Amino acid sequence: MAKLHKDLQRLLISEEAIQGRVQEIAEEISRDYDEIGSLYIIGILKGAFIFLADLARELSIPHVVDFMAVSSYGKTASSSGEVRLVMDLREPITDKHVLVVEDIVDSGQTLNYLLKTLSGRKPASLKTCALVRKERESLDIQLDYLGFTIPDVWVVGYGLDFADTYRTLPYIAELKKTVYSA
Ligand code: PRP
Repeated sequence: MAKLHKDLQRLLISEEAIQGRVQEIAEEISRDYDEIGSLYIIGILKGAFIFLADLARELSIPHVVDFMAVSSYGKTASSSGEVRLVMDLREPITDKHVLVVEDIVDSGQTLNYLLKTLSGRKPASLKTCALVRKERESLDIQLDYLGFTIPDVWVVGYGLDFADTYRTLPYIAELKKTVYSA
């Protein structure tokens, strides 16, 4: 593998490990929805776009992809701030089998907001999928599909950013503290 960028502390999840796990999750989802025969996938922008693109292309069941964008006002290294909906779905989800796809669950605030908002629209079912979640004792959230649990550090790559950069790295790495506390 190429040398890590100077702003990165250490590699946490390699490209190979991510691709292998994405394939496993896609197989699990395809099995679970096989009898249902349809799936409405909601990717949460911006972070989920890379994970969703890889995951959706590995699914063997019919599916539709849609997007929502949320933003956390006042987000810092230690707080995720208040969640706001900045872009809504194209279609109603009433009576659809919905899977929300996130790149990361950190405080859980974003996913909790989404679950509350989407469940009010009366989907036939509502499940969640995240590539990574932070290791936090206080985190109590419903995650139906999960790739990896990672330490509570600032991570970038595979959709995850710092100031909108590093999203297209093929791996996930810890960002040096000196970068985000500068
Ligand atoms: C990130 C990530 C999740 C959220 C998780 O999004 O994509 O949506 O944070 O954090 P939480 O569990 O503490 O709520 P962010 O708001 O940084 O926007 P982005 O996806 O556009 O980078």
